[in-house]
Amino acid sequence: MKSVETVAALREDIFRWRSKGEKIALVPTMGNLHKGHLALVKEARRLADRVVVSIFVNPLQFGAGEDFASYPKTEAEDAEKLTAGAADLLFLPDVKTVYPKPQDEQTRVEVPQISNTLCGASRPSHFVGVATVVCKLFNMVQPDLAIFGEKDFQQLMVIRRMVEDLSMPVAIHALATVREGDGLALSSRNRYLTADERHSASALYRALQETATLLKGGDRDYLRLEEEAMSRLETAGFRRDYFQIRRSEDLTPPAADECSLVIVAAAYLGKARLIDNLQLTLD
Ligand code: PAJ
Repeated sequence: MKSVETVAALREDIFRWRSKGEKIALVPTMGNLHKGHLALVKEARRLADRVVVSIFVNPLQFGAGEDFASYPKTEAEDAEKLTAGAADLLFLPDVKTVYPKPQDEQTRVEVPQISNTLCGASRPSHFVGVATVVCKLFNMVQPDLAIFGEKDFQQLMVIRRMVEDLSMPVAIHALATVREGDGLALSSRNRYLTADERHSASALYRALQETATLLKGGDRDYLRLEEEAMSRLETAGFRRDYFQIRRSEDLTPPAADECSLVIVAAAYLGKARLIDNLQLTLD
């Protein structure tokens, strides 16, 4: 698999493929690839003739005091995994390539409303950073389609909204969350967990499942369900961020008879901030 660092080198291959009428898929990542990322690559392989994977740890989406500086970088291992996963091209731009100007001169993409709740409330400007870099990557790679994980449910919605609002000619595909045997969603941040914390971490997915079971049983006291789940997580050693039952269509608070729900959660365990979600449809 070929690796390129500049937009000029990337475009050479893109233009060649495009002139042959080949369909191009992009899988944007921040690297430290795990089986969740590789499932996206496999899906891209299925849907397109050419698969481009980008690895870029995007400074714009990290807040002050977050883990930008310590975010795991494993480029050699990542490249090996992508070769085995049959990606065609790895795009590895540096910060100057993506953001040649100082940050305060950079044009940004803001997706209103949906960016301000949940993770956006805890991490102000996070989704502006995500939308801006994904918009730039789309313009650099010019893919026909791009694949994102449902693991980052709110991110997926922000990107879908951006593509719709700005008429971007990119089809967005979503893939279900890949989990460990005990239910923990695979994440690059799981490596921040100690052995004990790793053992407790599966409580997050269990809390989502237990809440889903209660909702399916007809309990619609959302506030109480959310509070009880948070308390269980605290008992398991988590510190709270949010645990919320929302409408899966737009992440707004649901009415008592809403059928399409998503339970979204974020909580801290040691140094890691873990997020997860579970969608459910009620009769
Ligand atoms: P990153 O966290 O590296 O994730 C890259 C892609 O992999 C995202 O679409 C994410 O939802 C997906 N993913 C992560 N864990 C997954 C899992 N367990 N199962 C399935 N898919 C999973 O998300 C980002 O990077 C960045 O915000 C990015 C979109 C690249 C913009 O910088």
